[in-house]
Amino acid sequence: MKFLYHVALHSRKKVLTANLCCGNPNMKIDGRAYRTIWLSDDGRRVQVIDQTCLPFELVVVDLVRVEDAAHAIRAMTVRGAPLIGATAAYGVALAMAQDPSDAHLASASELLRKTRPTAVNLAWALEEMKRHLAAVPPARRRDEAFQHAALICDNDVAQCRAIGAHGHAIIKNLWAKQAEKKPLNILTHCNAGWLACVDWGTALAPIYTAHDAGIPLHVWVDETRPRNQGASLTAFELSAHGVPHTVIADNTGGHLMQHDMVQMAIVGSDRTTASGDVCNKVGTYLKALAAHDNGVPFYVALPSSTIDWSLDSGKDIPIEERDARELTHMSGKTAGGKIETIQVVPDRSPALNVAFDVTPARFVTGLITERGVCAADRTSLAKLYPEYSQAAAE
Ligand code: MRU
Repeated sequence: MKFLYHVALHSRKKVLTANLCCGNPNMKIDGRAYRTIWLSDDGRRVQVIDQTCLPFELVVVDLVRVEDAAHAIRAMTVRGAPLIGATAAYGVALAMAQDPSDAHLASASELLRKTRPTAVNLAWALEEMKRHLAAVPPARRRDEAFQHAALICDNDVAQCRAIGAHGHAIIKNLWAKQAEKKPLNILTHCNAGWLACVDWGTALAPIYTAHDAGIPLHVWVDETRPRNQGASLTAFELSAHGVPHTVIADNTGGHLMQHDMVQMAIVGSDRTTASGDVCNKVGTYLKALAAHDNGVPFYVALPSSTIDWSLDSGKDIPIEERDARELTHMSGKTAGGKIETIQVVPDRSPALNVAFDVTPARFVTGLITERGVCAADRTSLAKLYPEYSQAAAE
């Protein structure tokens, strides 16, 4: 893989610096551990992996101003619900370095809030930052904001690790029950791995944990049109970690389930309602239907920051509609190694690019959270999170 530079969003190019991450990262690319977001050595820049360049190039981007963070989320330089939240938190910190006034805190939060509508982690992280900073005098806000953003990132890592442990127990159980000791086939949609979070991932955390514990696994990776997060990001991550996997066209999962070639499906979520309806990358619903029809357990892995306690029905979740060009055009590597974009739809055909869909709770076998696994219903979620569900009811 091409491993080169470090580009600021406003086209300032630099050579890759030595410090590529903070904290204690677990996930590796070419043997080197990364998080998806970290602070530069001088503490002035937030650095992220540009996911639009993967899987062919590893490019690190500097975020210097709140506008850079907003652009990174909008343009999907960073994506995935938990990472969108983490980037928004650091976006507020960058805003406080620019101007720590109340007015700027409010306008910066608004700028960030408008970047993408569906993943609730964005609003959650902004509320968390505003709540924390409201009590801090402007002169101290910059430092407090960076510390709090770092805490949000560390908490996300801890939650994903816990999701990994709870999900591992499910995989272990399925493996123990399987009479024929062939590798367990797990299907996933989109990218809900470490690239979508700060480290570990949500849906992929149980897979990494089980793989590391020696359970033989094989992952069916939905390509996930139109942006191909499965083919370009999930496949990249699994490959880097040495997890056996096969990329499949989005329409293949149903057939594989009918032929007993999937023992479990596991996906992430961008927003889950208090009653357990799950919003995730478009196409998830069809996989849940096929899983239901074929008796394949369908799990959703999510941290509590993805639960929208204010919503009961998935029908009320705002669904993002993105530029049709993401559907009408595709990018990839040519035989000569150049990255090129081509059009795949006739010149005059319109296209509709709806980014997410909702899987009703009745098709979800279980929610894997940092506090454990529960049924996808209001009572079970409220039991796991009594403090949030009570606060929402008041
Ligand atoms: O549009 P994206 O790439 O931000 O969508 C991401 C997904 O749908 C993920 O599956 C989701 O965020 C799960 S969270 C790790």
